[in-house]
Amino acid sequence: MNRRRRIYEGKGKILYEGPEPGTLVQHFKDDATAFNNKKHEIIDGKGVLNNRISEYIFEHLNTIGIPTHFIRRLNMREQLIREVEIIPLEVVVRNVAAGSLSKRLGIDEGTALPRSIIEFYYKADELDDPMVSEEHVTAFGWATPQEIDDIMSLAIRVNDFLTGLFLGVGIRLVDFKIECGRHWENEMMRIVVADEISPDSCRLWDIETNDKMDKDRFRRDLGGMLEAYQEVARRLGIMNENETVTHSGPRLVQ
Ligand code: TMP
Ligand code: ASP
Repeated sequence: MNRRRRIYEGKGKILYEGPEPGTLVQHFKDDATAFNNKKHEIIDGKGVLNNRISEYIFEHLNTIGIPTHFIRRLNMREQLIREVEIIPLEVVVRNVAAGSLSKRLGIDEGTALPRSIIEFYYKADELDDPMVSEEHVTAFGWATPQEIDDIMSLAIRVNDFLTGLFLGVGIRLVDFKIECGRHWENEMMRIVVADEISPDSCRLWDIETNDKMDKDRFRRDLGGMLEAYQEVARRLGIMNENETVTHSGPRLVQ
């Protein structure tokens, strides 16, 4: 598996050189991290679930004409993607107050926001991904004003799609994060959605019970992270009831 050249290793994923120029293989690890790696655990099977959930979402985004880096899933843990130049921003879209917004502004978690809010965070682990404004983004050259417009319009389209998708399966999309990249085709460059969209990068609450079905289960030591991700996959119709995602060996048939 590791004969391929490793291009990059992050907290949750590894990128390998792809089979053709301009492609990469994105490998999903089982590592769960939070608070910039201060909290770290291996959750057996998480990578498999995120690979499948992210595939499902990116496939749909491609289908409705929202450009992404995704080409196709290769196996349980890997997908083939287009090589892009990642814009060093975490683009967060919020529909409901939670997490750092609630903390920073003193708004109760669960309060519906008057409208969707887009925020930018500068991707820099050593700085703990500080929030930045469009002024910082353009002044420091991380993206041009035109690129910011494109990123915001992608973020809104992704939010509209995801909100409906999850609502249809009884899940409230509280907030999520995307990353965008520049993809060149001949002389043309366009901004595409990159990275992943999974319960690691979204807040997903059950419509009826408000149960958390996302990485907050891990961040807040609530337990049942894998089960929650599995339930998201099950509701989306991605995984069969008895499909297994863990490494546990063969089991005796009772
Ligand atoms: P926050 O409330 O902690 O700012 O997070 C907002 C959303 O962005 C939440 O769905 C989690 C996601 N997110 C990431 O995926 N990666 C990150 O590094 C951060 C800070 C947030
Ligand atoms: N940036 C965090 C990390 O260390 C992610 C999070 O808390 O969601 O992985």
